[in-house]
Amino acid sequence: MDLADLLARRRMVRSFDGSPIDQDWLDERCAQALRAPTAGNTAGVRMYSVDAQHVSDYLRAATDDEWRASSARSGALARAGAVVLVTTRPQDYLARYGEGDKVASGLAQRSAWPIPYWYTDAAMATMALLLLIEEAGLSATLWGNFRRAETVLEWAGITEEELVASLLIGRDDGRDWPSPSLARAVPSRESRVRRVPN
Ligand SMILES: Cc1cc2nc3c(=O)[nH]c(=O)nc-3n(C[C@H](O)[C@H](O)[C@H](O)COP(=O)(O)O)c2cc1C
Repeated sequence: MDLADLLARRRMVRSFDGSPIDQDWLDERCAQALRAPTAGNTAGVRMYSVDAQHVSDYLRAATDDEWRASSARSGALARAGAVVLVTTRPQDYLARYGEGDKVASGLAQRSAWPIPYWYTDAAMATMALLLLIEEAGLSATLWGNFRRAETVLEWAGITEEELVASLLIGRDDGRDWPSPSLARAVPSRESRVRRVPN
């Protein structure tokens, strides 16, 4: 399948069949995804794989009792066959942009960054991993950990890194239903491509 087809086919899937994803295979895909561009060749993004046996532990860290009891998606997501935590190390970017060939950028201070490249790098690698997952005929959803990022990091034993997102990965069980987000009227892709000057 060519890249355009993979891009067209990829969708967030939020209901899995419970079968495990081979962790060695997944670690290899993560390493491939980390071929993504990285600002200043900083390489400050990390990916942590969680195997199927520990998905429920991850979910206990990432969500609270009330959410697990009330969310219609709780059971479907809990059947993921693996999770990948995508983290980033802002301090590595500050150090890199303080090095001799970059210091003129003025970016050795965190507050100086108009666009924090540590998140840009993480997004690039995450998209690469989503495409590798799609290529393998598997499915995933990207989860924002805006509620309990610190709890997830503590559970995983990760320090000095920010959690950017988690990918819940598995085999589509055909029981997913569309996210309400998809019902939004959004500008077409074509209309978001512009030419300047016009
Ligand atoms: C930065 C980011 C955060 C997201 N967070 C969540 C999330 O917390 N939960 C979720 O179910 N989907 C999440 N999504 C998935 C989006 O809802 C989804 O990409 C969007 O509705 C378009 O659907 P599609 O990816 O299937 O084309 C997130 C996507 C991105 C890029």
